[in-house]
Amino acid sequence: MPTLIETPAWQALEAHHAKIKDAHLRELFAEDKNRAAKFTAEGAGLLLDYSKNRITEETLAFLIDLAKERKIAERRDAMFAGEKINVSENRAVLHVALRAPRGEVIETDGHDVVPDVHAVLDRMAAFADKVRSGEWKGHTGKRIKNVINIGIGGSYLGPEMAYLALRPYSDRDMTFRFVSNVDGACFDEATRDLDPEETLFVISSKTFTTLETMTTPRPRAPGPWTRSGPKDAVAKHFVAVSTNTEGVEKFGIDTANMFAFWDWVGGRYSMDSAIGLSTMIAIGPDNFRDLLAGFHEMDEHFRTAPPEKNLPMLMGLLTVWYNNFFGAQTLAVLPYSEHMKRFPAYLQQLQMESNGKHVDLAAAHVNYQTGPIIWGEPGTDGQHSFYQLIHQGTKLIPCDLIGFLTPLRPLGRHHDLLMANLFAQAEALAFGKTAAEPPSSPPAQTPYRVTEGNRPTNMILAERLDPKTLGRLVALYEHSVFTQGAVWDIDSFDQWGVELGKVLANRIIPELEAKDPPKLTHDSSTNALIERYRKHKLS
Ligand code: F6P
Repeated sequence: MPTLIETPAWQALEAHHAKIKDAHLRELFAEDKNRAAKFTAEGAGLLLDYSKNRITEETLAFLIDLAKERKIAERRDAMFAGEKINVSENRAVLHVALRAPRGEVIETDGHDVVPDVHAVLDRMAAFADKVRSGEWKGHTGKRIKNVINIGIGGSYLGPEMAYLALRPYSDRDMTFRFVSNVDGACFDEATRDLDPEETLFVISSKTFTTLETMTTPRPRAPGPWTRSGPKDAVAKHFVAVSTNTEGVEKFGIDTANMFAFWDWVGGRYSMDSAIGLSTMIAIGPDNFRDLLAGFHEMDEHFRTAPPEKNLPMLMGLLTVWYNNFFGAQTLAVLPYSEHMKRFPAYLQQLQMESNGKHVDLAAAHVNYQTGPIIWGEPGTDGQHSFYQLIHQGTKLIPCDLIGFLTPLRPLGRHHDLLMANLFAQAEALAFGKTAAEPPSSPPAQTPYRVTEGNRPTNMILAERLDPKTLGRLVALYEHSVFTQGAVWDIDSFDQWGVELGKVLANRIIPELEAKDPPKLTHDSSTNALIERYRKHKLS
């Protein structure tokens, strides 16, 4: 079997890259008045203008050849069909089933999972309604006003990102907080101004073994937040979201108050499972169902649109183009929306935990680059911080710019100014400013002021930020990640690399907590750090 870089499609792309790598977007736009229309695709309610990328029609054809050669469509169909494409864990990858409409059939191991999904959604909806209406009360009879999701990684980033993105749709009389970090400050800051009797904890963990989540707080432990009180207090203030029923029981939460999901949902693909319980309580079951409908629209688009019109496939292939042929190390995601503040952080786990892999599906070390580093902040803030390096630095940083046509909170001219900045950045990054263009400057200063341009961007536009649009956007990136992973022939659904850090931390914890000096068998640096900490702690 030829490796990826030996395949005809890859080699064709390499030869093509050598030919066009210096072509400037200024020339490409000047040569073809129809370029914007040619390189704009619409699907599932989103518009993708990818014309400001360093590509020609030939590039696109070569990238689509690559997609065909890597059998992206077949791999996608295998995912939707419930095949065990997560080879290192021997699991199906069925987050698409989480948003399948009632009545659709998606099977894995001969079992249709869609009825299970809807049974949990119905229980979540009944519970969310009770909390939102005040019918569900704390153990002293007070109404629940605060919901705290305790979870980390995929059991945190999605719920927090979705809550912030959809805050205008949320019950503003309720407070939602997210505790993730094992740093006690995280729990303390999230809880210090809240009344325990009005607070519901949603303990979210796929495995119910994760150190951070298992540490804070345990029901019925002594302390202001978990006062050993009547058993009823636990039942009224703690619910669990997990795949691990036994773990939930052992933790002390009645499984009657548990919302399940399944091992075929990866943590970073779980915000639309029961992990979204806090989201559902915040925005209500109807809005949550709209969120799922948005995901499903994009799933259907990904499943059925031809490659040249398929938004996630195009974005995935463009990421490969820059990552592997231009040597770009990173991809910036820049949403022009305050509500989308945590979207880049959400995408960091989605993309980097999925595609940060160095062996292929056959367990051979890859001899090409895999997943890029994902980062970003909302515009316009980033413009006054790191955009300078994107405009005039020495590194090529492709950017995804995301905008919404309708403001959620119209306020004077604000939205026009926001959108003007969004469009202006894409223009400036692509075309720059030559020495000949105004405003002119003293000749000695000209080199400092020239902006080369030719910085590629994708422009993603949606009508407005609402639950449906958020679902579409998340699914767009999920399937772009899938496309990249399929090209690189890696398992985008495991995360073994994270394990080593967990194992070593568990070894060090008793060494920090032991009364007597432990026998330290680490390297000299780690031994010295542990000793320094112990000395300080015991002094
Ligand atoms: O950091 C690794 C990881 O396993 C993620 O994949 C996952 O989202 C996170 O930990 C939390 O895991 P859990 O939901 O099992 O607590």
